[in-house]
Amino acid sequence: MSTYIIQGGSPLRGTVGVNGAKNAALKLMAATILTEETCVITNVPDITDVRTMIEVLNCLGAEAEFRPDGTIVVTADGGLTDRAPYELVSQMRASIMVLGPLLARLGRAHVALPGGCNIGSRQIDMHLASLKRLGAKITTEHGYIEGEDGRLRGAVIPLDFPSVGATENVLMAAVLAEGRTVIENAAREPEIIELAAFLTAMGANINGAGSSVIEIDGVERLHGAEHVVLPDRIEAGTLLIAGAMTGGDVTVQGAVAGHLELLLEKLKETGAGITVSDEGVRVTMTGRPKAVDVATLPYPGFPTDLQPMMAAYLAVADGASVLTENVFENRFLYIDELNRMGADMRLDDHHAIIRGVEKLSGAPVRVPDLRAGAALLIAGLAAEGETVVYDAGHIDRGYQDIDSKLRDLGACITREG
Ligand code: UD1
Repeated sequence: MSTYIIQGGSPLRGTVGVNGAKNAALKLMAATILTEETCVITNVPDITDVRTMIEVLNCLGAEAEFRPDGTIVVTADGGLTDRAPYELVSQMRASIMVLGPLLARLGRAHVALPGGCNIGSRQIDMHLASLKRLGAKITTEHGYIEGEDGRLRGAVIPLDFPSVGATENVLMAAVLAEGRTVIENAAREPEIIELAAFLTAMGANINGAGSSVIEIDGVERLHGAEHVVLPDRIEAGTLLIAGAMTGGDVTVQGAVAGHLELLLEKLKETGAGITVSDEGVRVTMTGRPKAVDVATLPYPGFPTDLQPMMAAYLAVADGASVLTENVFENRFLYIDELNRMGADMRLDDHHAIIRGVEKLSGAPVRVPDLRAGAALLIAGLAAEGETVVYDAGHIDRGYQDIDSKLRDLGACITREG
């Protein structure tokens, strides 16, 4: 079992880089199986989820190689199979992103149902209903999604909710469908724009990515392409919140301010100084933050993936904050852990009521999921005394070398196991 041991209380200071975005890289990797030609993706973070997606691609019969410089090269020619097994899909829900590409490329898919997840029940009903609208015959049997179609046909697809994954699965299926597909109420995350740009470089015909309506005119075939993954806005946000919470001065090189607008606004409201330059984003902070209310929403709303870190920050605010989670129902598993560190938080339905305390005190804590893990790290950095963060493996799913980045900023953090 891996553990982080943190001696808290030192302000973080200095400049730190940000890796490529996990949530973009995983979908670009899934998209590579839409062509038999070679695709090259660079600036890919070396994190567990990327390693799992490589296994998924190899298991499907593609040749996927992860080079030490963060480049992934995939060739999915010849013997591509349609089977993504439970052992892989259960490790990482994003494995179901191969469903749309498999249906588009092979006309069939056999993908394990992902099942539960720590942050909520996370249905895939919208993925399946949308692919059915494109003409795929989909059944779920014995824990697997079985899909068959022949060739998909374009259709109008109104999403009940702007689901990131459903938008991406439909996008990847529709690029090879016959005729026009229109996704209404599409997700607008920067990662969707990124996926559309990669698919366009592969020869797809897509308009409107980044808006609520995406139009896709299907093409007969796609070819190989190269793509550089955009900077990870969630990693950038995590480092900025850590800088602010420790009363430090941190510049996150490569952070795209335009992807972090609401976070930056909220940090300013708490009293942090924010400077945006060509280099990235700098945060400075002295004293306790002022309390603010935050509500998560699909992009461009406040990201649910930064909600736990914001909660850790507001735990030491001057005043009471209400933090509302509107995207995932179970994203508050860190509350009991932060309360063990001296926070005063209470859950009321999908609202966390946070009464700010002067200081957190270091304690042993256990990580329940990826982003909650990042919140506990940040809390440990700002707390008085020693924090031992157990089950740190969850954090490796989304952050590359987070401990060495924090050490470079002056944190006293070591890893065991
Ligand atoms: C992606 C991100 C995740 C982020 C989330 C929201 C990846 C790998 N993960 O997850 O980090 O927190 O977007 O920004 O990119 N839902 C349904 N039915 C569906 C699909 C979704 O009910 O068919 C619900 C989910 O249970 C959830 C909400 O819609 O409550 C949002 O989910 P979605 O936007 O699809 O998130 P993911 O793509 O799973």
